Amino acid sequence: MKSMERWTKRIVAAYAVASGCVIASGCERKQDPPDAPALAQETSEAQTKLDVDDPQACAPCHGALVEEWTESMHARAHHERDPIYGSMRALRMKKQGAEVASKCASCHTPRAGGDDASAAALAGVSCATCHAISSVRPGEGHGAQALTWAEDGAMRGAKTLAPGASPAHGTGDALEAIADGQTLCLTCHGELEAAPGVVACSTGAEHELGGEAQTCVECHMPEVDGPAGAVGSQLRHRSHAFPGPHRAWYQRDASQLARAVVASAELNDGVVTVRLKNESAHAFPTGFPGRYAVVIVRALDAQGEELWSNAAGGPASAGEGAFLGKIYHDANGEPVPAAFATSLASDTRLETKSPRTLEIAVGEVEEASSVEVKLVYGLLPGPLAKKLGLSEAPEATPKVAWETTLTP
Ligand code: HEC
Ligand code: HEC
Ligand code: HEC
Ligand code: HEC
Ligand code: HEC
Repeated sequence: MKSMERWTKRIVAAYAVASGCVIASGCERKQDPPDAPALAQETSEAQTKLDVDDPQACAPCHGALVEEWTESMHARAHHERDPIYGSMRALRMKKQGAEVASKCASCHTPRAGGDDASAAALAGVSCATCHAISSVRPGEGHGAQALTWAEDGAMRGAKTLAPGASPAHGTGDALEAIADGQTLCLTCHGELEAAPGVVACSTGAEHELGGEAQTCVECHMPEVDGPAGAVGSQLRHRSHAFPGPHRAWYQRDASQLARAVVASAELNDGVVTVRLKNESAHAFPTGFPGRYAVVIVRALDAQGEELWSNAAGGPASAGEGAFLGKIYHDANGEPVPAAFATSLASDTRLETKSPRTLEIAVGEVEEASSVEVKLVYGLLPGPLAKKLGLSEAPEATPKVAWETTLTP
């Protein structure tokens, strides 16, 4: 009975929030708390009414999580909500046939069920994608192919909850694939081939190289202050913003990017020594094969005008080791986006947890009054941005992950 009372209080609180009444401001309760039989009835009604594919339906009770998720790339995974994905998908459909879109859907819009325009599709990697599952079958394909969604409408997480724990949906035993902080993630983030033998994305394999000591959730669902929503009883929760590089563009927050690499630089006898160490638990950069980073060294005069740069000819010309990225080739040995490649020609990214030391001789250093060193990160290389019609889009301009200025 005690737990019933607890839930009665929380449900009232949640409904109060849903109706726009803020509890902390001491608003009046419009109704008395329902008694037990009424609660049972209300529970089953709420359960049948809950549209699990609508993240807003979770907001009255899990508000903080819904707000965080809305900022995440998971909420933007549909082609109309992500210009880079949207234009790449369109290009591939044009070149490879419209059927290719169903492959993308298994990870980008896994709950779409074949209808790309449905609300469940627009919600991208939605709450239901991760929590309406009853099991994960690693190794049985990507995303939707490896996920079994429960028929019972139950929401499962990292904790074992009593069957009546939530008035809005069933709950159940903790799912190991969620609780271990990586198995669920790896159904979409493991590995993806562009063509047989040509690996496009390999975050999972890169993570294994690091001994899997840190789980995905440790860095991508960091613990933050505050309850998870109106029904949260704990003072902290795991963020559902899934921080990654895109935050630097969409939230003006480059902190996750900055966390990836520890860097330092010194200048001796006209040579800059740059030391990098990958602190993430996979390659840097990881993920989508177009990502790159580049160490840019510039000699500047007293007015800040550039006298010399190692990357004057573009990122890929920055010199050995200074360009961190993958280059793919087609059958003629021409550089192409991974999606149209027959081979991976080079991979100069920083390996998991690995250091790298660069020595770059600075040109025109005698005339320079300062030497600027930057580690710059790009979501997509210039030629690909052009191909996708995104050259003028903010996403095509790289961001600074780290920088320092040295005096000759
Ligand atoms: C009317 C309130 C309410 C609504 C609406 C609601 N939930 Fe819940 N949910 C709860 C309560 C209460 C719990 C139990 C919390 C606890 O005991 O820590 C819970 C628990 C959960 C858990 C944790 C399961 C676990 O084992 O850790 C997940 C996941 C979850 N809800 C997902 C959702 C999703 C997704 C939606 C929207 C589709 C949703 N909930 C809508 C009240 C609600
Ligand atoms: C195995 C799951 C999976 C499949 C299948 C998949 N993707 Fe992705 N995609 C991802 C993940 C995960 C990311 C996030 C970056 C990363 O980790 O690779 C992503 C990111 C992207 C990006 C970068 C988006 C951005 O905002 O920078 C593009 C473009 C993209 N995918 C295109 C496609 C296209 C087109 C298809 C279908 C032909 C497809 N993907 C199929 C999982 C998948
Ligand atoms: C990409 C997968 C993913 C998505 C999408 C996702 N979650 Fe979660 N969620 C998790 C994981 C993993 C945990 C468990 C974290 C931990 O404690 O280890 C979790 C935990 C939770 C919990 C328990 C929180 C607590 O601290 O007790 C609730 C409730 C929840 N999620 C609701 C939601 C809602 C609502 C949405 C949509 C707005 C959502 N989740 C979207 C993966 C996801
Ligand atoms: C020690 C912290 C850490 C751990 C553990 C970690 N990551 Fe990351 N991850 C980062 C940092 C920092 C970045 C930003 C730099 C980058 O994009 O390479 C990042 C970037 C990413 C990106 C963005 C890729 C893209 O194309 O935009 C994805 C996806 C990702 N991680 C997935 C994972 C997955 C899946 C796991 C578990 C297998 C994991 N990460 C484990 C720190 C971590
Ligand atoms: C059903 C597939 C799926 C699952 C499961 C999944 N993701 Fe993702 N994730 C994606 C897709 C697709 C994207 C890229 C969306 C886009 O850019 O359009 C993405 C993007 C990301 C990013 C990149 C954010 C950025 O700023 O670039 C991170 C980090 C991430 N996911 C972490 C996780 C973690 C941690 C888990 C496990 C708790 C997880 N994901 C589970 C499909 C998934």
